[in-house]
Amino acid sequence: MPINAIVLAAGEGTRMKSRHPKVAHKLLDKPLVWWTVDAARKAGADRIIVVVGNGADEVRAIFADADDVECVEQTERLGTGHAVRCVRDAIGGFQGPTVVLTGDTPLVRAQTIRDLIDETRSNHNACTVLTMRPSDPTGYGRIRRSESGAVEAIVEHKDCTPEEQANLTECNSGIFCFCGGRLTENIDKIGTNNAQGEYYLTDMVEIYVGMGEPVSAVCAEDFTEMLGINSRVQLAAATKIMQLRINEQLMNEGVTMLDPNQVWVGPDVTVGRDTELLPQTMLWGNTSIGEECVIGPNTRLTNVTVADGSSVEETVGYDTVIEKDVTVGPRAYLRPGTHLLAGAHVGTHVEIKNSTIGEGSKVPHLSYIGDTTMGSGVNIGAGSITCNYDGKHKSPTTIGNDVFIGSDTMMVAPVEAAYS
Ligand code: UD1
Ligand code: CA
Repeated sequence: MPINAIVLAAGEGTRMKSRHPKVAHKLLDKPLVWWTVDAARKAGADRIIVVVGNGADEVRAIFADADDVECVEQTERLGTGHAVRCVRDAIGGFQGPTVVLTGDTPLVRAQTIRDLIDETRSNHNACTVLTMRPSDPTGYGRIRRSESGAVEAIVEHKDCTPEEQANLTECNSGIFCFCGGRLTENIDKIGTNNAQGEYYLTDMVEIYVGMGEPVSAVCAEDFTEMLGINSRVQLAAATKIMQLRINEQLMNEGVTMLDPNQVWVGPDVTVGRDTELLPQTMLWGNTSIGEECVIGPNTRLTNVTVADGSSVEETVGYDTVIEKDVTVGPRAYLRPGTHLLAGAHVGTHVEIKNSTIGEGSKVPHLSYIGDTTMGSGVNIGAGSITCNYDGKHKSPTTIGNDVFIGSDTMMVAPVEAAYS
């Protein structure tokens, strides 16, 4: 049966002190709300509705290419219950599991969401709440249970008595799984009779209990999964947790790191076995590194493919393909459209743009190669430059197999060099 997810992301995030909406801030190289949506997707949600408000256009743009995500605008922020009411039309008559998450909790794992969905299905629950026991429960909604242990209500911190604030340590994570049909039928029952005068989604628990509908809680083992980001200090702390989570997984899969605290790898990156990632390495976007490579130190690669056995040292690269047994750096700059064929060498203080460097060809020192097609076995002497731009037009350079270009050569494009 299909699964829907609703991600609440309309809030402002005043404490970020930013002109951008909170959920657009990046953790590793992805916006906060991207992580929550990704977890929902990996948990099996086929349709994800993001409630946007503050900075709506910026949040919409994050999902412009995602077919399974749609955005619904909440024009005034009247509370989490109101936010869910805004998507009632979008949910339509959907009867299946409907997960509600918040866009500022990027560390939640797909498995945790799956457990919540399973509990909802097996109990035929109207609502299952994911709870946690944080080291400091201040500020969180608290779970009130009956003497027999059944969940009765969620009481917001501000609406708790001092005794409840001290004694109720089980907290609402803000993540729920509802039965879609019963949610749309009953969401209007939420009122605003509370300390903040807001429509609280959390009130659904008490409403259902009063109706005799089945409600239960799943307590997450690791509360750090539910850490919410409200400030840049919390953003840095969450980034550290995610960085080490990804790095530990890579190390368990056979990747070596001299210091996992100094390597940052985005969620869509793959790294092969027996590859070593050295300090101050950042791998972003759709980067993919093969086996037996050495990457770093001081290297940032974005959308770069590196085949087996290559090394890339002190290099910045974008939208580049590096074939096997290539050596790059130290201090190279690989710009979009660079293709380094097998066994090529790009050395120190070399910039390559939109060019193919042939098999075994070498550009060892202090060169700029742009808009160039280079054959195999070429050697470019130190300080050689393709003058590909005359101020108005870009022109190509073609260098045939086995050509030897002497040091300090200016190749004024369009130009062709061939071995004779
Ligand atoms: C909420 C829960 C609380 C829980 C905590 C966990 C309620 C009433 N309280 O409190 O029990 O312990 O999360 O972190 O639900 N949002 C909207 N539109 C609105 C209001 C909020 O989209 O009108 C979004 C916010 O952007 C945010 C999320 O909903 O992503 C949670 O809202 P927030 O006001 O931060 O709730 P908390 O006070 O943290
Ligand atoms: Ca709040």
